[in-house]
Amino acid sequence: MSDTDHKIIIAVDGFSSCGKSTFAKAIAARLGYIFIDTGAMYRAVTLFALENGAIVSGIVDEEAVERLLDRIAITFRFNPARGASDIYVNGDLVEGKIRTIEVSNCVSQVSAIPAVRKKLVAMQQEMGGRRGVVMDGRDIGTVVFPDAELKLFMTADPKVRAQRRYDELTAKGQHVTLEEIERNVRERDAADMSRAISPLRQAADAVVLDNSHMTVDEQMEWFMKLFAERTKK
Ligand code: DC
Repeated sequence: MSDTDHKIIIAVDGFSSCGKSTFAKAIAARLGYIFIDTGAMYRAVTLFALENGAIVSGIVDEEAVERLLDRIAITFRFNPARGASDIYVNGDLVEGKIRTIEVSNCVSQVSAIPAVRKKLVAMQQEMGGRRGVVMDGRDIGTVVFPDAELKLFMTADPKVRAQRRYDELTAKGQHVTLEEIERNVRERDAADMSRAISPLRQAADAVVLDNSHMTVDEQMEWFMKLFAERTKK
């Protein structure tokens, strides 16, 4: 048996801004697994659509986005300084441009377009095919890898989530208000749960992690016990 035979797929789904990426990245580092942030992929498509006239004044032209899809090549490259992979679109580093409020306000609409999901889900399945992967998103345990050996569903109080995202954005120098962030968090929850294709929902076999009042260290301790139980021979 090769080493990859022992490695599993870990799906981390849940609401926006509840620390999924931070936690999934920490798990991957701890286990020596690859971390894949699928939200970054939907954000990268949204950014490309914004920059290429498929979204004007916040209105998403779905057909125009679909037409752009063949012109979007998404790649990841490991950045040792961040301990995670940076995302590139057509060879351009876009990591720093995809987490603005402009992208956040349109990404739910873009991610509800069936052709967008079809393209990105196929890419994600190929990237996770070799196992030893921690993938975070909304539909990883339900659609992308329904057979993942370990599925987490993360949630936290919307007010706590808004405060966390507010702190993150203001630390980067972005001018935002807590109210607009909380509105965006609640709107994205509603949009992600109610879209027709691959809505956000908890897989029947997912384990819920509510981290409203937990530090990353406490979450890690909780997770490592679960991981040990699930991978015990
Ligand atoms: O994780 P995030 O907040 O960066 O994700 C951005 C958006 O992308 C989110 O509002 C929903 C969408 N998304 C999705 O539909 N499916 C995924 N697997 C990941 C993200």
